[in-house]
Amino acid sequence: MTHVFRRVLTRELPRAVHAEGVWITDAEGRRYLDGAGGAIVSGVGHGDPALLGAMARQAARVQYVHGTMFTTDALEAYAEDVATVLPMDGAMIYPVSGGSEAVETALKLARTYHLARGEEERHVVIGRRQSYHGNTLGALDVGGKDQLKGPYLPWLGRFRHTETPYEYRCAMPGHPGGCAAAYAEALEALILDIGPERVAAFIAEPIGGATLAATVPPPGYWTAVVEVCRRYGVLVIADEVMTGFGRTGRWFGVDHFDVRPDILTAGKGSTSGYFPFGFAAASAEVYAPVKPGGFVHGFTWSHNGIGAAVAHATLRRLREGDLVGQAATKGERLREELRAALAENPIVGDVRGIGLMVGIELVTDRATKAPFPRSEQVTERVLAAARERGLLLYSSTGHVDGRDGDLVMFGPPFVISEEEIGLAVERARDAIDEVAGVRAG
Ligand SMILES: Cc1ncc(COP(=O)(O)O)c(C=O)c1O
Repeated sequence: MTHVFRRVLTRELPRAVHAEGVWITDAEGRRYLDGAGGAIVSGVGHGDPALLGAMARQAARVQYVHGTMFTTDALEAYAEDVATVLPMDGAMIYPVSGGSEAVETALKLARTYHLARGEEERHVVIGRRQSYHGNTLGALDVGGKDQLKGPYLPWLGRFRHTETPYEYRCAMPGHPGGCAAAYAEALEALILDIGPERVAAFIAEPIGGATLAATVPPPGYWTAVVEVCRRYGVLVIADEVMTGFGRTGRWFGVDHFDVRPDILTAGKGSTSGYFPFGFAAASAEVYAPVKPGGFVHGFTWSHNGIGAAVAHATLRRLREGDLVGQAATKGERLREELRAALAENPIVGDVRGIGLMVGIELVTDRATKAPFPRSEQVTERVLAAARERGLLLYSSTGHVDGRDGDLVMFGPPFVISEEEIGLAVERARDAIDEVAGVRAG
C-alpha cells in the first residue's frame, strides 16, 4: 500500500537507496547502470562530494529567502560565473525550479520585451512539430508532441508550429541538399501567414531531444532560421534544458552552430539533478527594455540560493574536470561501439546523436524504415529487457505519425568510464537482440 501518486501506475517500482557515479542501487541490492542519467539529467554523476558539500554549506548559511526580499551571495556568484559560458552578450539569469518553469518564463519574457517596446500585437510564439518544451500548459502548447496534448486540447491552441529537422526521415524535396533553406522558408512562410507584426518568438531545441532522440539538424539550419527571425524582429529562444551544460560536448547546444539566442532556457544538467533548478537567461538587449517596467512573473521557489550554490558547484566541476570535453569524446566512443554492436540487428534503423546525447531508432524494416505498430510495445520491451540486465535507458514513442515510432536514448553521466561504456553497450545489445528475436552471442 502506498499513498504516493506515482509517475508509473502500471508496474511496481524498485526503491532507490544509494547512487554513486553512474550506478544506482535499489533496496534489494540490485545495481543499475544509469545509462540515461535519469531523463538525460546527470552530467557530473551521482554522489559527487563537491556538489553535496556546496549544497550543505549553503543550507547551513541561508536555506530560504524570498526572491522579492533578498538576493544571496550564492546566487550573485553563480550568475556572474555562468554568464561567462552562456552564448549571449550580458546574460541576465532568472532562476526557477526546472525546465518547464524556465520555458514559461522565457515565453512571458519574450512577450514582456515586445510590450515594453510598444509592440503590443506581438504575442504569437512559433514552436516546432515533434518538439518538447515541458508539461505545464504554456510549454505543452508551444511543444509539438500531440500525444501529450490530447487530454488537454480544450485548454491549448495559442501557438503555431513549423517543421523540425529530422534527418533520418527528412521529407524535404531534394534531401539531403537544400534542407536548411527549406526549413527556413517554411518558417518564413508561417511568419508571413501569421503576420510578422504579431510574432513574438521562435522557440526550438538546438538538437532534438525528448521527442526525437538526439536529432542533429542539417548544416546551415540554425544560421538560416535565425536569419529569418532577425529579419522579422522575432526573438530566438534556444531551449537548452536537455542540451545545456555540456551534454552535447560543448557548453550549450547552440555553440555547435555559432548561434547567440536572445533568450535561453536551462534545467536538467544545470545542477546535474542534485537540486530542482533551471533558469531563463535574457541577453542584455532583451533585458534592457524590460527593466524599467518590470517583469510580471515569479515563483515562491525562484532565485533559490541552495539551487544556485549547487548549480555553481556543477559549473566548476564541469570546468575543472573538463567534463564537457569528455562528453564529446565519450559520446563519440559510445556511438561507435553501439553502431558496431548493433550493425547486424535487423530492428536498429539509426544510431545518432552528438556528445553524450545518443538516440537509437527501432524499425520493422531497415530498408523501408517502417515503424512497428504501437501495439507491439517495442520500446517498452527493450527498456524492460535492459532494466532486467541492470541498464537504465530513456525512451520516446509515437514520433513517426503520432502513434507509431520507437526511440531509445542514452545520456549517461559524463564521468562514465570506458569499461562502463562497454558494459552499457553490451547490455543494450543483448536487450535489443532479445526483443528482435536474435540470439545473444
Ligand atoms: C528541451 C526541454 N525543455 C523543457 C523540458 C521540461 O523540463 P522539466 O521536465 O524539468 O519541466 C524538457 C524535459 O525533458 C526538455 O527536454
